Amino acid sequence: MINIGIVGYGYWGPNLVRNFAETPGAQVAAVADLDTAKLELVRRRFPAVKTTTNFQDLLADASIDAIAVATPVSTHFEIGMAALRSGKHLWLEKPMAETSYQAHKLVDEAERRGRVLIVDHTFIYTGAVRKMGEIIKSGDLGRVYYYDSIRVNLGLFQRDVSVISDLAVHDFSILDYLLGEHPAAVSASGINHFPGTPENLAYITLFYDSGTIAHANVSWLAPVKVRQILLGGSKKMITYDDLEPSEKIKVYDKGVSFTDDPQQIQEMRVGYRTGDMWAPKLSVTEALRVEGEHFIDCIEHGKTPETDGRLGLRVVELIEAATSSMRGRGETVYIRRQEKAA
Ligand SMILES: NC(=O)c1ccc[n+]([C@@H]2O[C@H](COP(=O)([O-])OP(=O)(O)OC[C@H]3O[C@@H](n4cnc5c(N)ncnc54)[C@H](O)[C@@H]3O)[C@@H](O)[C@H]2O)c1
Repeated sequence: MINIGIVGYGYWGPNLVRNFAETPGAQVAAVADLDTAKLELVRRRFPAVKTTTNFQDLLADASIDAIAVATPVSTHFEIGMAALRSGKHLWLEKPMAETSYQAHKLVDEAERRGRVLIVDHTFIYTGAVRKMGEIIKSGDLGRVYYYDSIRVNLGLFQRDVSVISDLAVHDFSILDYLLGEHPAAVSASGINHFPGTPENLAYITLFYDSGTIAHANVSWLAPVKVRQILLGGSKKMITYDDLEPSEKIKVYDKGVSFTDDPQQIQEMRVGYRTGDMWAPKLSVTEALRVEGEHFIDCIEHGKTPETDGRLGLRVVELIEAATSSMRGRGETVYIRRQEKAA
């Protein structure tokens, strides 16, 4: 049985507690939060779970094997590093740290100590993203031309990070997983309409050496919630609507072809293919459950998580590059060549 201590019981922390409480091989031993009202909620719902306002109590508890950190991003480095140094395995919420320097340090520390470090890029564990990955890897999509995402809603405004860190981070991790390629350059624009708070809407374009182009429109200022991705390939095209209760993914046998036939050269050389559409069956297991079980499996069998610290670091590097471009009003920021994503 792997004993887990969870730090942070705000918006996301309760999802971690609920999932780990139901994950075979795991047990929630304790929850830490600075807010005693939050701890009261834990005690009412999970009477057997210990509570404390001091996360150090969890680190000092030798019966706890792993720490999950669901506090604001600005605290991830301090709490995560302390957890690793006390010998615990570590689950860090996305994004794993505020800077790539901090992310590097966390990756190094986990590797040096032989501890499992997983970053909660939840979308990678959804049936929908896995299905898109399968379709790309099988070659059915053909060459990936573009990825276009809209991820907007009203709030939740974050105090310590911009909308890029909060929402585009999902697209960065999904792209890393789907393409297995790090972008060569990024251009982003965004704005902060409320002085003293981070940027609340942004448009980010990522350029890849392979020719793929990716775009994400992220906002906390939209009147409606939209979570849609278009993925266009040379053979097929996919739509992904995360708010659809079923049939989240639709695969279209549509595309264009160009002819070099001299007979047709004076005419329009482009042909349109409009074939069938189908909605593949997706796993309906909650992504956090899949990820929780994967974390336990990695701890028990010394495996590397699919969303390990290195993926988390690549994502933080993209956040930094996009933020730097945004502050330069869209100037192109070139990204240092990376080890290839898995
Ligand atoms: N994976 C996802 O899809 C997903 C979704 C939402 C949020 N998140 C991530 O979860 C993290 C938390 O976000 P949130 O929206 O739950 O924030 P939140 O502000 O609602 O909750 C944070 C909680 O941490 C507590 N806290 C702060 N500092 C602490 C400390 N030093 N010790 C103990 N407790 C402390 C606060 O009292 C609060 O209850 C962020 O990294 C966010 O990006 C991930």
